Amino acid sequence: MNILVVGGGGREHAIITALSKSAKVDKIYAAPGNGGISKLAECYPVKATDLDGMLELAKKLQPDYVFVAPDDPLVLGMVDKLNDAGFKTFGPRANAAILEGSKVFSKALMKKYNIPTAGYETFTDADKAVEYIKAQNSYPAVIKCDGLALGKGVIIAKDFDEAKDAVHSMLLDGKFGASGSEIVVEEFMTGPEVTVLAFTDGKTVKPMISSMDHKRAYDNDEGLNTGGMGTIAPNPCYTDTFKAECMEKIFKPTIAAMQAEGRPFKGCLYFGLMLTPNGAKVIEYNCRFGDPETQVVLPLLETDLVDIIEAIWEEKLDTLDISWSNDSCACVVMASGGYPEKYETGKEISGLDENGQSTAAYIYHAGTKLENGKFLTAGGRVLGVTATGADLQTALDKAYKAVDGISFEKAHYRKDIGQRALKG
Ligand code: AMP
Ligand code: GLY
Repeated sequence: MNILVVGGGGREHAIITALSKSAKVDKIYAAPGNGGISKLAECYPVKATDLDGMLELAKKLQPDYVFVAPDDPLVLGMVDKLNDAGFKTFGPRANAAILEGSKVFSKALMKKYNIPTAGYETFTDADKAVEYIKAQNSYPAVIKCDGLALGKGVIIAKDFDEAKDAVHSMLLDGKFGASGSEIVVEEFMTGPEVTVLAFTDGKTVKPMISSMDHKRAYDNDEGLNTGGMGTIAPNPCYTDTFKAECMEKIFKPTIAAMQAEGRPFKGCLYFGLMLTPNGAKVIEYNCRFGDPETQVVLPLLETDLVDIIEAIWEEKLDTLDISWSNDSCACVVMASGGYPEKYETGKEISGLDENGQSTAAYIYHAGTKLENGKFLTAGGRVLGVTATGADLQTALDKAYKAVDGISFEKAHYRKDIGQRALKG
């Protein structure tokens, strides 16, 4: 079997690594891929958001499956386009990817089907939004853009002035473009956050091992929000009680709701959850694997990923048993100095072998390129240094030991990945 994977970050490197272990896979293609991915897959310079270019590439390569990993092409309808041309795919069609593409849609769905989430109102008029915030008089206030905004479209305002500025930046100043032409103002929730990725064929849902992201740039959750600076799996906050509660009150109802709306969701559904004092609630849905959650979840998967892809395509996920390792996994992201704001690229990375790997841990490449046999930085998040172990402490020790052996100019990483989880 030949598989084309769309995307070129750490998540795609983790997906491709899992696919490369399958006895069923002959050849993997990636578009655009990156330096590390090029060691496992044939890379083609087609942008993940180029729907026509990707269809052309698929016609040329004739893969058995196209795995669409990032949010933008899914929301733009890449799966629809490929399916309509006869290609089998992994990932939701646009009418289901809207679960991530529009927060107004997902909040309305949760309200209609009684799926627990923060209370909210939606607005297109700035004055009305500001009036509502004033009347609520509850801070912090949470203000979100409707559409995709690279994880930056959420503002937690600590007082009225900040909230008003947030509303104005979205609805009046167009800081987030069309994504911010409608906003959601919602209740602030508290509690530990958990990510649960789940395989679904539109009818059956099979949650994967839980994980915990570390979104802020610096230790102790300081600094700006990033795409994710590190992850651990499983997430110790996610007890068996929460697991059962989420299955009955969130996972199954969401899949059934999408089916009932004529929008069956096929692929990987990302549940961003908060374990509040009043039970587990949905913070957000994403229509795809998380990054860097995938980097710690897929190494624990024991079932052949290709079997899962086929079962989802054939809508027979109920017949497949999916098994997981009892180990723990940790991923420490090494980022470019300055990220998530301005940063430089093109720095040579030292400490990697000719495959971009290290003997101490598995290295998922996020933003790298390979030039004249050297790996260079090519993005904000550069590497996801990942290790498994019998317990979380062992996995973290291995990952950090490997980090010590890798360097590039102005590299920065968090030193406290997993610490909150270890404290329980
Ligand atoms: P999102 O992009 O919706 O996942 O939001 C980004 C981050 O903002 C989340 O991971 C939470 O830490 C935080 N957040 C979002 N919504 C809320 C909320 N209603 N209450 C508290 N924190 C929130
Ligand atoms: N790690 C957060 C995300 O993938 O959206």
